[in-house]
Amino acid sequence: MDDRLSQDFPVDWEEDHYVSRREFFKFMTLASGGLAAGSVALAAWSRLPRERRSFERALIAETQDIAVGGSLQFSYPRPGDLCILMQPAEGNFVAYSRRCTHLSCPVEYQPDQHRLYCPCHNGAFAVSDGHVLQGPPQRPLPRVEIEVADGKIFATGVAAS
Ligand code: FES
Repeated sequence: MDDRLSQDFPVDWEEDHYVSRREFFKFMTLASGGLAAGSVALAAWSRLPRERRSFERALIAETQDIAVGGSLQFSYPRPGDLCILMQPAEGNFVAYSRRCTHLSCPVEYQPDQHRLYCPCHNGAFAVSDGHVLQGPPQRPLPRVEIEVADGKIFATGVAAS
């Protein structure tokens, strides 16, 4: 406590070491600023493009197993990592993780609308490249890299979103 104040109010107050309102608000402003800066940094980081992750090459299907406009489910790279393979046009095979990038509900192929639809919160992704078409997801669907050789379709990696 400052000396003049102590003379005007000669009270021995044990709580003298308590922080002043000004110090409290200064601390709260700094803490809020730190949290805001952290949130901005985290949001920026989550939007950075992710690199491709290679996994062991795995046979998914044979080209004859999937019709034009059809789809087929598989797991990659681990059992339980649900993915979907589609043939939106003759000879054009694409595959994505089925896990919606919002809250992980499984997406479904809607060939007539050229999209993968998530029924949980009305999200949708383009079949062409997995970008978000609508709804709350902020990141595209992770694309499964595929290779077609001798009538066989292989998964070779995952381009994370
Ligand atoms: S979980 Fe897919 S839109 Fe919410």
